[in-house]
Amino acid sequence: MEIITIIGAGYVGVSTAALLSNCGYKVYLIDTNQDRLDSIASGKSFFFEEGMDPLIAAGVQSKTLIPTSSYKEAVPHSTFIFSCVGTPDNPDGSSNLTYVFAAAETAAGLMKPGTIYIQKSTVPVGTGQKVSAAIAKKQPDFSYVSNPEFLREGTALQDSLYFDRVVVGGESHQANQAVLDIYVSVETARDKLAKQAGIETGHTNGAYIETNLSGAELVKVTANAFLALKISFANSIAKLADQAGADIIEIMDAVGSDRRIGRAFLNASRGYGGGCFPKDVSGLISSAEEHGVDLSIMNAATDVNDSMAGYIANKAKDILGTVEGKRIAILGLAFKAGTSDARRSPGVKLANILDKRGATIHCYDPEATDEAKEDLRKGVQVHDSIKAAVQDADAVFVATDWPLFVKYRLPELRKHMKGTLLVDCMNAYDISEVEAAGLHYMGVGRNGNNQ
Ligand code: NAD
Ligand code: UGA
Repeated sequence: MEIITIIGAGYVGVSTAALLSNCGYKVYLIDTNQDRLDSIASGKSFFFEEGMDPLIAAGVQSKTLIPTSSYKEAVPHSTFIFSCVGTPDNPDGSSNLTYVFAAAETAAGLMKPGTIYIQKSTVPVGTGQKVSAAIAKKQPDFSYVSNPEFLREGTALQDSLYFDRVVVGGESHQANQAVLDIYVSVETARDKLAKQAGIETGHTNGAYIETNLSGAELVKVTANAFLALKISFANSIAKLADQAGADIIEIMDAVGSDRRIGRAFLNASRGYGGGCFPKDVSGLISSAEEHGVDLSIMNAATDVNDSMAGYIANKAKDILGTVEGKRIAILGLAFKAGTSDARRSPGVKLANILDKRGATIHCYDPEATDEAKEDLRKGVQVHDSIKAAVQDADAVFVATDWPLFVKYRLPELRKHMKGTLLVDCMNAYDISEVEAAGLHYMGVGRNGNNQ
């Protein structure tokens, strides 16, 4: 059985380990964080992601998934090493590559000749060359392949099994091909894996793309930047729609039906959050600057994104008269539905803005409360049910479109509230249903349908 080491038991590392350990590989999953390893050893992920735990439990039980803090236990036996460590942003927006180099240097001293070192972490273009040079000082006989990850949290397994594309880039065609072959194994087993995870099976005819090292690195950050750009573009037009009396959903449905444009990621909202878009956009701007290239288009996308929570808070203030002294419920602290991840959460940002402006804030999220707590201002209260959070609220902000929120009976919501304002930060509700329940609707760019 082929042996694989995965370094970094985060969202990407765990997802990769869960799949590979259930389709014919023996996988060592290394992390420096013992809590994360203990959680995997008990058959569970440290984060909420549909379908993940059954795969982890099966891998651990069959001993094909081995969580460990020891590089020595794993690396010398492995043919493939996937680096999936975090690449957070530095205070100046550039990418912090400390973990990327630490992982590579530790592994390099233990790698057997011929090992293929695969970079899955999102890194600025040019990083691979530097990491390769660092590894070569300790183990010259190896191949380096950039293999960026495109999964989304909340649909991690669906995205990985029914992928649009797998991208590899490195100097050795043979090594690139060997990495692509791993994904062929995943694709071959995908319906079985989906059933095992308890998620829906799908059907895509994903592309296998081989490019050079810089190309693969740039594909990843370009894809994220373009998606962020689409969201900020939609949010800019949403502001115009609010002024002009049009509905952004109708606009984007029509605009997006042009196949050259596409409808995806044109949903106006309280802006994008999460552990990736904000830092990948700032990392790209910074890396372009280093190459003497002006990417001010991405600065504009960032500025629009940064403005959205304040824009929504101001619009709500205009309706309420003031937010000072008001009781406001925030539903949704995860950065998006389907995950417990609250990194750069727009719901948390809204809660903090409104708290700072003198409102009393009551929050609820089905999965992300624990993680969000550390970023919430001291006065913000967190509850364990929708009902407790919205009780006597003057306004309810829905910051994340968890189905639990969107399906909540609106007359019931109205009954618990003191006031009537429903702020739909995700444009997830049907305006006529909200109004039929006696609530006042406010969306993002939807003034054309609720004057
Ligand atoms: P994460 O922060 O959740 O996990 C990273 C893990 O690496 C942590 O558990 C940390 O303890 C561990 N680690 C750090 N240094 C280590 C070392 N030297 N040895 C062993 N373990 C070490 O990160 P994530 O969200 O999984 O993201 C990982 C990378 O993948 C990032 O570059 C990110 O941009 C990229 N990415 C993430 C996603 C996503 O949905 N989260 C999707 C695509 C790409
Ligand atoms: C994103 C990309 O979609 C993945 O392809 C990529 O692999 C990943 O980043 C990464 O590199 O880490 P993710 O951050 O998990 O995935 O989630 P998305 O679904 O992209 O949502 C990001 C943010 O944008 C969320 O806050 C979401 O609510 C917001 N969003 C998304 C909008 O406001 N409008 C939209 O139309 C779409």
